[in-house]
Amino acid sequence: MARILITSALPYINGVKHLGNLAGSMLPADVFARFKRAEGHEVLYICATDEHGTPAELAAAAAGQDVLTYCQEQHRIQHDIGRAFGLSWDWFGRSSSPQNHELTQHLANVLEDNGLIEERVDHMVYSVDDRRFLPDRYVEGTCPHCGFRPARGDQCDNCGRLLDPTDLIEPYSTVSGSTNIEVRETRHLYLLQTKLEEKLRKWLDSKTDFPSLARAIANKHLDEGLIDRGITRDLAWGIPVTRNGLPRPGFEDKVFYVWFDAPIEYIAATREWADAGEGRDWRSWWRTDEGASDVRYVQVMGKDNVAFHTVSFPATILGSQEPWKLVDMLKAFNWLNWYGGKFSTSSKRGVFMDAALELLPPDPWRWYLTANAPEGSDTAFTWEQFQSAVNRDLADVFGNFVNRILKFTESKFEGHVPAGGEAGEIETRLYAAVDEKLAALTASLDAMEMRKAAQELRGLWVLGNEYLQEAAPWTAIKTDQDRAAVIVRTALNLVALFARVSAPFIPFTAEKVAEGIGDAYPGAWPSADARTELARLEAGRAVHAPEVLIRKIEDEQVAEWAARFGGAEG
Ligand code: MF3
Ligand code: ZN
Repeated sequence: MARILITSALPYINGVKHLGNLAGSMLPADVFARFKRAEGHEVLYICATDEHGTPAELAAAAAGQDVLTYCQEQHRIQHDIGRAFGLSWDWFGRSSSPQNHELTQHLANVLEDNGLIEERVDHMVYSVDDRRFLPDRYVEGTCPHCGFRPARGDQCDNCGRLLDPTDLIEPYSTVSGSTNIEVRETRHLYLLQTKLEEKLRKWLDSKTDFPSLARAIANKHLDEGLIDRGITRDLAWGIPVTRNGLPRPGFEDKVFYVWFDAPIEYIAATREWADAGEGRDWRSWWRTDEGASDVRYVQVMGKDNVAFHTVSFPATILGSQEPWKLVDMLKAFNWLNWYGGKFSTSSKRGVFMDAALELLPPDPWRWYLTANAPEGSDTAFTWEQFQSAVNRDLADVFGNFVNRILKFTESKFEGHVPAGGEAGEIETRLYAAVDEKLAALTASLDAMEMRKAAQELRGLWVLGNEYLQEAAPWTAIKTDQDRAAVIVRTALNLVALFARVSAPFIPFTAEKVAEGIGDAYPGAWPSADARTELARLEAGRAVHAPEVLIRKIEDEQVAEWAARFGGAEG
């Protein structure tokens, strides 16, 4: 029994997330958390909304709300949708929490005590009419590289180059539209990452079991050479910059940069969790001097987040010289694309989590997004693939098996697990095949190889169908009641086994199946000993076929959704 801490990248507060966000962080983290809980481990799965930075301020302004109200509302909305998708967070916090304010200010303070923070003078775009600096997206203008207008202060959407707001030609304020813009001097805090290079490299070199995508990105960033990083911004919304608990002179109108405080929220959110309940201790999860050295810490995120988690955040932690827990296993994902292009929050391209649940229950989505996780490379969502994953895998293979044997039990054995008979040669072969697939499934999940895990699970479901086909209880029952009883009992045990191993992937469906078979939900993860696992249900137990488990997706639905949400041409 181990203690496993899991965090998935914190979704930005600026609106409901799309399926790509779900597929590349929160969902795989949830599948893993459910699997590890089923194995009997102590799991803490932490997530939160990432509430600071210019995207939050701008989205609030666009919604006509003050940023506090906006964040509160959007946090609630993202929380509720995540729950509706079955995300089993132990806590879904907020990076704007008092806990995060305190911890972020504390860490900045110790970093400075350790000689790793320095004040520097920067040149920044200033709007005379708005009487404020215009960081990142607060200024737009013409891209100096490609001539595109409007390019944002931090990046040009046309040519994709990263920009500095002072690069823009004919800049204007997105607050007021004013072109009365100057470049002024302003002071900012810099984290001296260059001084931490050696420590970081040593630490990263010890992370030999990071999956390849995470390692490759991390090493690339280290090899390009670290730069000292500005960790404050001229913004009103965020965590105030303090020194020794007091406002830092000259920084009254500044806050910490969102990428400085967001990962710290992993720790602070755990403290929010502890503060919200009796007998919960956050320190034993995070302080290696208070028990956290026994914790296995797993992070899940999209590839654009890897550098922040393998360089920036570890720089904060290592630089503090305090005994904080660092990540043990970092699982990164590529992009899930929408047909040929990207999902896009700003241009509303693709399906978002709220719209998805208006079309179908969560499990079809969960299954498709796990079985097609963008693991080895970017992958594209298509309605046709989605339809096929749901109809062929879930309905034809899984649902069909469950229904067939439960209906048969209802009609031939009065809805009870039959007694009598002894397992024969077909069953012995089944045990061996199940053992093998179960071991492969468990190993894939352990390695967080989600596509492979889904394939192994599907392989188990297929074994169920093949077994029924070969053993043919509908024929046996005409001549040999005992033989029919063995087959039905074995198949019902397979149903029970499937409910348990499918639960991390399709929890709502698995619960219905468990209920039909009279099992507790969620059950324990099975051992790779099929002979025992498939003789678990006692004879006489009442079972029944669940109401419609999986509804097939009709071609008309696909046509309607493709028209509504766009597709190939979209
Ligand atoms: N909000 C960021 C994104 O969506 C992820 C932040 S992860 C954190 O890309 F750890 F920094 F919070
Ligand atoms: Zn450009």
